[in-house]
Amino acid sequence: MKLDDLVERYGMPRQVIEAIKKAGITELYPPQEEALKKGLLEGKNLVLAIPTAAGKTLVAELCMLKSIFKANGRCLYVVPLRALAREKFDEFKQRYEPLGISIGIATGDYDVVDPRLAKYQILIATSEKVDSLLRHRAKWLGDALTVVVLDEVHLINDPGRGPTLEMLTARLRQVNPDIQLLALSATIMNSNEIADWLNAELVTSDWRPVPLKEGVYFGRRIKFADASTRELTVDAREELAALAIDTVREGGQALIFVSTRRSAQAVASAIAKHVRDLLTSEERSSLDEVAKSVEGALGEPTRTCKRLADCVRHGTAFHHAGLHSAQRRAIEDAFRQNLIKAMAATPTLAAGVNLPARRVVIRDYRRYEPTFGSQFIPVLEYKQMAGRAGRPKYDKYGEAVIVARSEDESEVLFEEFIKAKPERITSKLASEPALRSHVLASIAAGYVTSLRGMLDFINHTFFAYQYGAGQVAHVIERVLDFLKQEDMVRQHGERLVATPFGERISWLYIDPMSGVVLRDGLRRAQQIQPTPFSFLHLICSTPDMELLYPRRRDYSELDLFVAEHANEFLTHIPDEYSKPEAYEYFLAEVKTALMLQMWIDEAPEDSIHERFGVGAGDIRRAVDTADWLLYSAQELAKLFKIKGVAPMLRDLRKRVRYGVKEELLELVELRGIGRVRGRSLYKAGYRGLADIKRAEVKELAQVPHIGLEIAKSIKQQLERGLEGPHEEIEV
Ligand SMILES: Nc1ncnc2c1ncn2[C@@H]1O[C@H](COP(=O)(O)OP(=O)(O)OP(=O)(O)O)[C@@H](O)[C@H]1O
Ligand SMILES: [Mg+2]
Repeated sequence: MKLDDLVERYGMPRQVIEAIKKAGITELYPPQEEALKKGLLEGKNLVLAIPTAAGKTLVAELCMLKSIFKANGRCLYVVPLRALAREKFDEFKQRYEPLGISIGIATGDYDVVDPRLAKYQILIATSEKVDSLLRHRAKWLGDALTVVVLDEVHLINDPGRGPTLEMLTARLRQVNPDIQLLALSATIMNSNEIADWLNAELVTSDWRPVPLKEGVYFGRRIKFADASTRELTVDAREELAALAIDTVREGGQALIFVSTRRSAQAVASAIAKHVRDLLTSEERSSLDEVAKSVEGALGEPTRTCKRLADCVRHGTAFHHAGLHSAQRRAIEDAFRQNLIKAMAATPTLAAGVNLPARRVVIRDYRRYEPTFGSQFIPVLEYKQMAGRAGRPKYDKYGEAVIVARSEDESEVLFEEFIKAKPERITSKLASEPALRSHVLASIAAGYVTSLRGMLDFINHTFFAYQYGAGQVAHVIERVLDFLKQEDMVRQHGERLVATPFGERISWLYIDPMSGVVLRDGLRRAQQIQPTPFSFLHLICSTPDMELLYPRRRDYSELDLFVAEHANEFLTHIPDEYSKPEAYEYFLAEVKTALMLQMWIDEAPEDSIHERFGVGAGDIRRAVDTADWLLYSAQELAKLFKIKGVAPMLRDLRKRVRYGVKEELLELVELRGIGRVRGRSLYKAGYRGLADIKRAEVKELAQVPHIGLEIAKSIKQQLERGLEGPHEEIEV
């Protein structure tokens, strides 16, 4: 169907069609057409379960814009990841802001509800942020919304994210049963169950904008499912290099999925020398620019930065969660511009970010599972990776190739992956930590006032659809007992009410268990002389902090540290002999706290990476969580009137955020000045803002790591007055 036809047939405003046409889209893809035929633009709920890159977003755009123009609608677009929120935000803004549509993004602090959020016609938010808004009873969310889009809804299957997605969906429908729901999903076996649960029409299809050829590689030969084959004639010893070069030589790009970060780095380096020869001189100079930005992303290049920059100069890259987000963005952009020709990535890349390549190579299709040993990865995961193959407009077809280890295995791979159907997804709501948090939130926000009411509400979740609410009743009762025992919830007759403690925990968006750990630790802090490490360890002993597990060679050092600092801990130290498992867990907390300690002591990043086996991205994630937990501790100290800890927590929080010693706290308030440049200024005699004010731009520019641009910028900032801590542009 031509896009133009939507005006007459569905009453789509002409200017919307023109805006979409500007992006080069003139016709609807067949599954998109089917979505409209099923009544999407007449307000029907819809589940759209179609392959990767088959254009789910456009369907959502049409639905939202019709509602905005024809019914003065308000729309909410829910995504699983911040990176994805940003991608959609940029796209929608570019396309629809010229039409006068206001578009907002919300992924920031969980305990702030900015009333400005209510004014956007399209709001893009992560599921956690929406959940937190609902906890704050942001009334407009329910009242004003006309359309809610749930992107990547198959993540209901994910033990970490799934429960939140399910609860917020049920909650939104509870507060406003008239909301039109549009759920976008990868192809899964039981999309009909999702549709049934949401009372929605279902569109499924295998149609792809670029045909996909799936095959298995063994012995220099790819055998495709359509019986065609391809012999590799590339002169490269490494198989992955041969597979990549084979397509790069013909103008394609390769995306190679491996299971570990180390492999990704090794593969990207191994391919680099082969790719370099295939680059034009313009490509080389553009890549040099990208390499520079990647190398300078942290202020002071680490080994990983240098290695990545080196790959980029050669037209390859590795992509994993250990990289700084700025580096990931830079290489994703360079890949989209067809500058980077081959990229080796861990599977995190496969989820949602729009990054197609002509050839996708899947090397690692087994994973070690603690109780089962080495297992094939789920078909759903394979399909998500394979589905990345084929760039619309550039490639006539995409190729997804699995690398077999033996001839025999080739056949198995055809059966287990290529011919297999993705698994059925199942609700993960019955997990105790998830329910702890959601049960408390339901009571604290007043959505639920009794056990009966809680069970009634659970009845509307996907869990209840699949298993019946009765299956979680006992977990809910156990969770309620815990909440009552810790005085977050009180019961008067049948009626459940949250205490101020419970309410605060729900708003802070932390696990109630974390609230208990923090409360008890803060009380203990009044009895000892706490150090910054005391609080770093305290936050690491909450379940909200992701821990670094000790390796064998870490043990003796950690043991020694614990012995020497025994009187600094705010939690009980488990006995090594009678409780070996608890002790081991405790050492993981200590190790994680030590990483944060090194960070705030200004240890060079490289040494932190080396000692803890982490990357820049891991440190930034730990820092974000630590920042939030320290803030939570501050709030609880206020609530429980715990004296004397507030100033220490406040300074520690700033130090964690910037990774600096106390003496740099003033300098890092300047935008563009972090731990490396701050230290550099300090060493050159600029100890505070007053010193900078007195200095000439020329003098500042000569300080190592500063340079003219930054010198100018910090002088300007001081002239204009500081803006306060620089947050992401969220509201
Ligand atoms: N009708 C169309 N004609 C041409 N291009 C289109 C059309 N519809 C969508 N596209 C383009 O296809 C690309 C992929 O679309 P989109 O990101 O919506 O995929 P998706 O279905 O959400 O896949 P994923 O599972 O990866 O999230 C986008 O660049 C989009 O602009
Ligand atoms: Mg999508």
